[in-house]
This record gives sequence, C-alpha cells and structure tokens, in this order.
Amino acid sequence: MRIEPAIRIALIYAIISLFYLFVSDSLVERLVADVNTRLVQTTKGTAFVLFSALVIYLLIRSELQKRQRLRDVAMRAQRLEAIGQFSTVMAHDFNNMLMVVIGALEVSEDTLAPDHPARAHLANALKASEKAGALTHRMLIFSRQGHLPAKSVDVNKSARELAPLLNVATGQNVSLHCNLSEGLPPVIAEPCKFQNILLNLIINARDAMPNGGDVVLETARERVESQLTEGLWIVPPGDYVTIVVRDTGHGMSKHVMSKVLEPFFTTKPFGKGTGLGLTTLREGLDAWQGHLIITSASGVGTNVKMYLKIAEFDDAATPALKSADIAGDTKGETILLVENDPEVCAAVSNQLQSLGYKVHTAATVAEARLILKNEGKVDLLLCDIYLDGTTSGAALAKQARTLDKDLKLILMSGYSDPGLTADLTDLSGLGWLAKPFDRFALRRELRKLLD
Ligand SMILES: Nc1ncnc2c1ncn2[C@@H]1O[C@H](COP(=O)(O)OP(=O)(O)OP(=O)(O)O)[C@@H](O)[C@H]1O
Ligand SMILES: [Mg+2]
Repeated sequence: MRIEPAIRIALIYAIISLFYLFVSDSLVERLVADVNTRLVQTTKGTAFVLFSALVIYLLIRSELQKRQRLRDVAMRAQRLEAIGQFSTVMAHDFNNMLMVVIGALEVSEDTLAPDHPARAHLANALKASEKAGALTHRMLIFSRQGHLPAKSVDVNKSARELAPLLNVATGQNVSLHCNLSEGLPPVIAEPCKFQNILLNLIINARDAMPNGGDVVLETARERVESQLTEGLWIVPPGDYVTIVVRDTGHGMSKHVMSKVLEPFFTTKPFGKGTGLGLTTLREGLDAWQGHLIITSASGVGTNVKMYLKIAEFDDAATPALKSADIAGDTKGETILLVENDPEVCAAVSNQLQSLGYKVHTAATVAEARLILKNEGKVDLLLCDIYLDGTTSGAALAKQARTLDKDLKLILMSGYSDPGLTADLTDLSGLGWLAKPFDRFALRRELRKLLD
C-alpha cells in the first residue's frame, strides 16, 4: 500500500512519541527511582506528545487540503471536458443544418430573375447563416475544443470587432485605452482564438484591478534584430506585429509568474477562473510561431506582450466573387461527393452542379469505392471526415489516392477541428472545408486543387 509522504512522517512521529511515553518511561523507571525525576520526565513526555500531536494534526490537515485542491482541479477539468464535448456535438449538428439552409437559399437565389425583389431577402438570410456558422466556431474555440487552421489575421480589425465586448468586460471601474498602429501587415493566427486570447488578457487585467485602473491595448510593428531575452522569455530575431496588454493592477509574485502558463493554474476563487486562459495563449503562439514576454511586479502591474509572425499571404485580399463569375472557370470536372447525411448531401450536390461540375454521390464508404472503381474518371473526392461505419472519410481518401494517384481530395467537417492526422497532412493535393460553407468558398477550394 502506498502511504503519502506527509502521513508517513506523521506516523513516524506517533511511533517515536509512543516509544518515548511507554518504553522509554519504563526504562527510566528502572534506572531512576527518584519520584521527582519521574515527575519531571512525565511532564516532558506529555509536552512532547502534545507537540507531536500538533505536528501530526498540521501535516494531516495540509495533506487533506492538498487533496481537496487536486479534487477541485479534476472536477473543473471534467466539467470543462463535458461542456466541450456537448458543444462539439451541438456545433456539428448545427453546422450540418446550416449547410442545408445555405444550400437551399443559394438554389432559391438561382431561380429568381436578377432584379427580383426577394433576392435582397435571400442575401440577408445567407449573410445571417454565415454569421451563425462563425458563431458556432467561436463557441467551439471558447469551450477550448476547436483547433482551426491558422490564417492571416488583421490584428487591428480583430481588436476593433471585439471592442464592444472588451468594454463590457472591463466594467465601469476600469478604463480601456486602445493605441492601434495603422497600416500593420496581417499576421499568422486563427481569428476566433486570437480574439479569445485578447478577451482573456483584458479580463485578467480587470481582475488584477478590483479598485479600478487603466488597461492599455497596443499594437505595433517591431523588428527584433538580435535575440531578445527577458528572464525566461526568449524572442528570436524577426519581423513581428506586437500586441501589448498592460495594466496597473496588483501584479504577480515570482511564484505566480513561474506558474502562469501551467494548465489549471489560477489564483482566482473557485468558479471564477479555470486557469486555462494563458495556457490557451501559449498553445496559440506555439501553433502560430509567435512568442511571448510577460513582465510583472507585485503592486506595480503586468505587461503581456505577444510577438506574432507576419503572414506572407493575405486571405482577406482574395477578391469576393460575384454570382456571375461563379461557374466561369469550371472545366466540367467530375466530383465524387461522399456524405452520410442525405439533406447535406443534396445541398452540397446542388452547389457543385450550380458551379458546373458533374457529381456522383455516395452515402457510405462502400458505395464510394464502387463508384471509384466503376464510374470512370473522377477528378476530385469531396468527402465528410466523420462518416458512419468503420472507415472514416480520411481513411477513404487515403485508399482512393492509392487507386488514382492524381485524384484530388477535399475533406469537409462540421467540427471545428479538421482532425487531420499526420499521415494525411503528408498527402499532396489535399484541401479542407469547414461546414457550413457557401458556393464561393467551395469554388475557391476546388479551383485551388484542380487548377
Ligand atoms: N494581468 C494580470 N495581473 C495579475 N495576475 C495575473 C494577470 N494575468 C494573469 N494573472 C495570474 O495568472 C493566473 C492565470 O491566468 P489565466 O488567464 O491563465 O487563468 P485565470 O484567469 O485564472 O482563469 P481563466 O481560465 O478563466 O482565464 C491568474 O489566476 C492570475 O493569478
Ligand atoms: Mg484568465
């Protein structure tokens, strides 16, 4: 049986005390007959026993407190895990429904004359569906379940979008000052996660100033000529966009500073903080090749500075397509669409046909294999990652590639996480679409692979 160290020490104390009280006393009795000496020894023994009892009590209490803390952390982790799993399943189903709604709206749009007044209503409904899709992704990122691939992000735009929420988060006592440098290049990040990180930094600053104060949010471009070292923090040379969140709060002790990036480390009362905010920040920066410097002193305030790598591409610069362009560059390629939800399958199939593609559909891996073998040339396999049954869409994609080495592959999913395993990311000619998507996004991903 494994005995905890504190309990082991307590037991040793107890044994020594008992030895001293009984065995050592009987020795003393034999050796020293004098009653006075005996009395003195007994008093000393009693004092020793009381002292030992106090030590035992304190050790056991600290052990019990430690166990309670661990239980709290485990409970918090389980609760988060449960919320995360629940929201993942909800978001998946919701994204599939949105896919059907978007598909239906697009088909309806096609049936209307160019000047039909209902077009404006359909456009509004499409926009709302897109926003609803973005919301589910944000929900997943917020529950810390989603891992979307990095994109190019305009940090100023992102901060401005979030500003109303940041102002609500700071409350009335704390003033938020934004100094955003104009003309910053886009950086490598994931927009929802980036906003989530920003929100956490502002909330941390607010919590550090219970009596009010100032939080400054600053963005700037910065070239690091030679490696920056600040305590344990290191920033290699490079061109960065920096984001600083600075407060005049109670700051952090050295002990807190050494632990801030640890998962579940929090100094906030139970139910107020999960201790995952800065862990998410570290995970994000690791994935985006960014860096971090946190400086803080008790009673002075805290300065969190992120160094984000400048993106060499700008997703936002891709020109938006007009409906008229939509099928313009299709060469009538054949697409095999594999999707187990019949309504989603019909919606995506309609999108593909409206873009000018020939479409085969399959609901299962077995059906897909038959089509690949018997239906002649297929140019691209568009496949849901999580199909029912034993073979996943990802495995099907790999098998299909062995049948035809030129076959292009796009995996789609209603989950925020592409779930691409390492062996899949090694495949060339592989694309990824997060549901719900409209025809423009579908077309963009198709042309990227087919051209
Ligand atoms: N600006 C700050 N000033 C003082 N202490 C801070 C600051 N930012 C973070 N900390 C310390 O770091 C700890 C960890 O922060 P982190 O954001 O990871 O978790 P949290 O805020 O406790 O919980 P949550 O998961 O809800 O964000 C905080 O509990 C706090 O002790
Ligand atoms: Mg926090």
